[in-house]
Amino acid sequence: MPALGMGTWRMGERARDRPREVAVLRSGIDLGMALIDSAEMYAEGGAEEVVGEAIAGRRDEVFLVSKVYPHNASRRGVVAACRRSLKRLSTDRLDLYLLHWRGDVPLAETIAGFETLREAGSIRAWGVSNFDRSDMEELLGIPGGGHCSANQVLYNLGCRGIEWDLLPLCRRHGIAVMAYSPFDEGRLLRNSKLRTLAERAGVTSAQLALAWLLAQEHVAAIPKASDPAHVHDNLSALDVHLSQGLRAEIDRVFPPPSGPSALKMI
Ligand SMILES: NC(=O)c1ccc[n+]([C@@H]2O[C@H](COP(=O)([O-])OP(=O)(O)OC[C@H]3O[C@@H](n4cnc5c(N)ncnc54)[C@H](OP(=O)(O)O)[C@@H]3O)[C@@H](O)[C@H]2O)c1
Repeated sequence: MPALGMGTWRMGERARDRPREVAVLRSGIDLGMALIDSAEMYAEGGAEEVVGEAIAGRRDEVFLVSKVYPHNASRRGVVAACRRSLKRLSTDRLDLYLLHWRGDVPLAETIAGFETLREAGSIRAWGVSNFDRSDMEELLGIPGGGHCSANQVLYNLGCRGIEWDLLPLCRRHGIAVMAYSPFDEGRLLRNSKLRTLAERAGVTSAQLALAWLLAQEHVAAIPKASDPAHVHDNLSALDVHLSQGLRAEIDRVFPPPSGPSALKMI
């Protein structure tokens, strides 16, 4: 899985924005930003349609991620929901399919649906989202649960709680952590302390926030940008090296957790 991708939440909501949204995703693919994260929930399928248009003719260049609603995550429901997503995305396969958050359907049913899809070649891998440590432990205790490839959770400089136990647990089991809302929906980029650190390092706040995430083992990040200049800026984070001194400074300004905390979600 690529370490850096593009989020699509709030895309596909207004028809007039569609050409711009398609263009920004295409510009990201052109630059090599190969992972695209979507969900059936986003604009009730509208975001997946935008992605479908953006990747037309270049499916092999992208690593495609989508998510199933918890209420669709029964054994049969997950298969039907995936078919609908594939149709909107105009493709025959997803690279990664996630349970968007934990619902009432027993996890064993969802796993069975995911495995059916995997065996049919409709998805290459499956995972979860917004699962805390106890959810992960329960999942891993169910037959087939060890096939989980990723857990997509809220993770950014201002929200480091997962470092206490969830991130180490995922690492131990070889489960990738996908950091969503890496800029806290943009709020982090208005943080003056982050700006000061970034200016001193000669990078933008967005680059520093992403470079810090990407420096964590087993972590991928999926910032959302509707401005092509922002996509370009975000991609440059891959070239940013964080010195030991800068990392220590970051930890001072944005401290790691000192104990367990409930998993936050947006
Ligand atoms: N699994 C889940 O439950 C879950 C929950 C939330 C999000 N997600 C996923 O994670 C993705 C990202 O999270 P998010 O959309 O909440 O927010 P985000 O990526 O933390 O922040 C997006 C905001 O940052 C701005 N931005 C992006 N790059 C920038 C740059 N280089 N310089 C300045 N501003 C920049 C964007 O502005 P412009 O739009 O103007 O470029 C936008 O306002 C979502 O799109 C979605 O795919 C998943």
